[in-house]
Amino acid sequence: MEKKLRVANIGMRFGMSHVEGAMAYGAEIAAICDCNAENLRFAGERYGIPEDRRHTDYRDIVNDPTIDVVTVAVPDQLHRQISCELLNAGKHVLCEKPLALTREDTDAIIRAADTSKAKFMVGQICRFTPAFEKAKELIDAGTIGDVYFIESEYAHDYMYLLDTWRSDPLRHGVIGGGCHAVDLIRWLVGDPVEVFAYGTHRLLPQVSYDDATIAIMKFDENTAGKVFVSTGCKRDYTMRTLVYGTKGTIICDNTSPEMTLYTVGENGMATTPQTIAVDVNSHNAGREFEVFADAILNDEPILTDAREGAKTVEVCRAIVEASVTGKIVKPNYNM
Ligand SMILES: NC(=O)c1ccc[n+]([C@@H]2O[C@H](COP(=O)([O-])OP(=O)(O)OC[C@H]3O[C@@H](n4cnc5c(N)ncnc54)[C@H](O)[C@@H]3O)[C@@H](O)[C@H]2O)c1
Repeated sequence: MEKKLRVANIGMRFGMSHVEGAMAYGAEIAAICDCNAENLRFAGERYGIPEDRRHTDYRDIVNDPTIDVVTVAVPDQLHRQISCELLNAGKHVLCEKPLALTREDTDAIIRAADTSKAKFMVGQICRFTPAFEKAKELIDAGTIGDVYFIESEYAHDYMYLLDTWRSDPLRHGVIGGGCHAVDLIRWLVGDPVEVFAYGTHRLLPQVSYDDATIAIMKFDENTAGKVFVSTGCKRDYTMRTLVYGTKGTIICDNTSPEMTLYTVGENGMATTPQTIAVDVNSHNAGREFEVFADAILNDEPILTDAREGAKTVEVCRAIVEASVTGKIVKPNYNM
């Protein structure tokens, strides 16, 4: 019989989606953890976790030799500390995005993952959004030819989300939230070699960083891209994404039940657009956990490993630097 993974989940807010993902997979929830007693109680009752398996100190999880896998959904500033301790203790770790906020911290997680016998995955969840998975499949199959332009966005009103850790200047909106759009375009077309950006600051005066940023980027001589990040926008959360190829165009997002595909007819012009039905699942934590657990059990490589997460953060940091300095910035992928 296949081994049943014993899972612990740290951080009981967004992290509750990890509990649900692990439960859907059939894993055993060995423990949950949150330093906030009320959040811990709420999650414990919701998922029927006995009180002796609820912890306020994450080190109880680090030191429990019976736990195989740990999901981490705590403030971004703590990703390094908790992930590294878990990896050093031999636990497989699924840590929330962004991998970390500084180069020093992303490097430290890479080192810990390189030296651990356990696997590490960063939760870049857009790679499991059905519409984006379909876009990737179409691009890889050559359906739209060679991509010459891609654009994506992260538009999400943070007006009621701004707690202390999200207001930290290190947690610039491009890194904290925009990493979703940046990671998506990296996954779909590759790594940009240089970026430039403009920022504006009109909607969230309570934070010190720009609340809107528009970045343009070059992938190679014939491929360009754009990312728009707004953390104060007056609209529903969305990640509209357009991919323009030499033989067609894809228009999709994370919240619509359908996406649009243009291909070319015999005259070289776009055909009538084709509508493709897709499941709406913007935060597909079930599929994310499934991919991680299968990779652990079958000893397969992790697509969004620490280096991959670090590259996404590096592009985000380059965008922030470009918007502040007014200079073109080349991301440093030497990691
Ligand atoms: N993938 C996504 O789309 C997505 C969406 C939301 C949040 N996130 C990420 O998930 C993480 C958590 O975000 P959130 O919205 O749940 O934040 P939150 O502030 O709402 O909740 C964080 C939880 O972690 C707990 N916590 C803090 N420090 C802790 C510690 N040392 N030990 C144990 N528990 C601790 C807090 O008490 C709180 O319950 C962040 O990294 C965030 O960027 C990802």
